[in-house]
Amino acid sequence: MDSLLHDWPEPVVAVQSIAESGSTLIPNKYVKPAADRPTVPGSSAGRELSIPIIDLGKLAGGVVDCRAVIRAISDACRDWGFFQVVNHGVDMEVVRAVLGVWREFFKLPMEEKKKLANSPRTYEGYGSRLGVEKDSSLDWGDYFYLHLLPHCIKNFDKWPTVPGACREITEEYGRQMVNLCETVMKVLSMSLGFDVGFLKEKFGGEEIGACMRVNYYPTCPQPELTLGLSAHSDPGGLTVLLADDRVPGLQVRKGNDWVTVNPIPGALIINVGDQIQVLSNATYKSVEHRVVVNEAEERLSIAFFYNPKSDLPLEPVKELITQDRPQLYRAMTFNEYRLYIRKKGPSGKTQVESLKAM
Ligand code: OGA
Ligand code: NI
Repeated sequence: MDSLLHDWPEPVVAVQSIAESGSTLIPNKYVKPAADRPTVPGSSAGRELSIPIIDLGKLAGGVVDCRAVIRAISDACRDWGFFQVVNHGVDMEVVRAVLGVWREFFKLPMEEKKKLANSPRTYEGYGSRLGVEKDSSLDWGDYFYLHLLPHCIKNFDKWPTVPGACREITEEYGRQMVNLCETVMKVLSMSLGFDVGFLKEKFGGEEIGACMRVNYYPTCPQPELTLGLSAHSDPGGLTVLLADDRVPGLQVRKGNDWVTVNPIPGALIINVGDQIQVLSNATYKSVEHRVVVNEAEERLSIAFFYNPKSDLPLEPVKELITQDRPQLYRAMTFNEYRLYIRKKGPSGKTQVESLKAM
């Protein structure tokens, strides 16, 4: 293991503690350079753009005969890298329950949460920073990160015991997320011209990985100067985001604009991660996104990450390499790949770009 990842470079301060201190100014570390500061939600050049909304209800009888849905998802992954799904089959009781237990967790006294403080070695636990570079700019958010799959790396010792139902509900939510991601993987396999099981097989079949980050964005006295989560693309395969449906915050890059996602109650937001961009030789795009915060309301989101088996070298599939589109990325395992974000923190699309050195 890389020696840089043994510990954080400076003491970690929970953003929640700063927010609750009542200060009207945010510390300098959270102030972003002018070019990175948020645009006000809804002001993206006055245009009413939104990520596609896709009804998965039609897939209930099996994915094979649903050309229209396959087409819609494929177009969304090419044009946006993001879409919202409705009628996704995930049990809404479980959705409500998982939001409930994690809202409760973040309300626990700070000393309780700090007992589960994480280190950059695995990131599991309660944390407030991504990346280990000293003096780097920080984001206005705390999080809880945990591993779900493979079973051998799931470590309950690092999970909260309070609230009592947290483990059971989070595991059930995780199972439902795996099912949803596997449906999307089937759709993407077919839309690229392969058998339904193709992409999952490329990800390592039954040995895929899964982890979750619960993001907690406290209210912020100067939201125009900072970000809840800086621009990044997700390093893994697919992400399913359960976003707070009362408080918008997620923005997705579209050309030079940032488009604010207006969550639909009951919907889930799905996006393509870097590993799908690599496997598909950039047919599908892992798109930059970021989070803005606000003065009035805290926001909670749950990001579920569906990832390839971590020690499998991944590279563009040969059927998608053509004369017009040569192989864009070199092979790398996910273990190697995610070291980058673990060290540097969110840094736009620089990571997948760095794979281009062929
Ligand atoms: C993430 C992420 C968005 C959000 O956790 O990778 O992009 O709205 N989260 O919290
Ligand atoms: Ni993300």
